[in-house]
Amino acid sequence: MIKIAIVSTKGGVGKTTLAANLGALLADMGLRVLLIDADEKPSLSKFFPIRRRAVHGLAYVVTKGMVTADGISVIDLPHLPGTLDIVISDSPEINLSDWLYNRIDQAVRLKMALRSPDVVDNYDCVIMDSHGGAGAIEDAVALAADFLISPVRPDVLSGSEFMDGTLKMLERLESSTAIGAGLGPMKAVINCLRRSNNSRMVADTIRQNFILMQGKVTVLDTVIPNANAYQAAATEQIPVHRYDRHRSGATPCAYDVMHQLAWELIPSLNGVYAGHVYGDEEASDRGGGEEEGASHVG
Ligand SMILES: Nc1ncnc2c1ncn2[C@@H]1O[C@H](COP(=O)(O)OP(=O)(O)OP(=O)(O)O)[C@@H](O)[C@H]1O
Ligand SMILES: [Mg+2]
Repeated sequence: MIKIAIVSTKGGVGKTTLAANLGALLADMGLRVLLIDADEKPSLSKFFPIRRRAVHGLAYVVTKGMVTADGISVIDLPHLPGTLDIVISDSPEINLSDWLYNRIDQAVRLKMALRSPDVVDNYDCVIMDSHGGAGAIEDAVALAADFLISPVRPDVLSGSEFMDGTLKMLERLESSTAIGAGLGPMKAVINCLRRSNNSRMVADTIRQNFILMQGKVTVLDTVIPNANAYQAAATEQIPVHRYDRHRSGATPCAYDVMHQLAWELIPSLNGVYAGHVYGDEEASDRGGGEEEGASHVG
């Protein structure tokens, strides 16, 4: 079982979009995927329609320290060859981060919960979404994962914030590893790349700056372009690889981008494609994927 945490020290960089779309793609490739919405302000929980909502959610998982069947909701996506379930972020009366902060096992509590038989026996992959920031829940999510993915938008502000914020976060997390919570490698993915030269230059600078981060972070080769399809698919509550399957133009379609990302993250999936669940008429170009701001490109 592979456990992936989507983390960032900054909000609005595309964590939830990535968690949802990666999870759905892997499930469309035939994997059994469990999403965990560890953002106390739920958005992954609302990304796709829910077919069967469980009695419990994140608060139960964290306070009980285990995942049981009555905490797992079922996502409603037609024709999935695999499984796509979710531990939703419910609205607990307690502040979960505060609750966790006062526990001696705060760093490993979620990691241990993911060892529950209902997870280990039923899933190939766990993908955790988190809130952009630093807190006990965010740390527990990062420390529960085999590796971390951190989306970074290639504008100057988020680029430099990424370096500073991420280094601080990694240092803090590394100090927790003394009590048995190992920290997996972090992979940054450039998200929302516009086709303008400036954006490309900043993306290149981000890559170069990572050399200064002493190998703590690697930058994925896959770059997610800025494209309307990501927002439009979310509005329709369908995975972006199903929404934006074919397109001519300079910006690659989400179907290709998401496959490349999945193959880069999990090389054993190389050559595995999402099930072809749509008829030709539905697979045609929806025209929703063109890059925002493309008119600025010379
Ligand atoms: N590649 C992309 N191209 C265009 N828009 C995108 C892309 N990725 C994400 N977005 C849009 O960016 C916005 C923020 O994305 P998202 O909610 O996933 O970020 P987040 O990091 O989860 O935010 P928060 O910190 O609030 O949880 C959304 O409107 C989403 O549709
Ligand atoms: Mg989010």
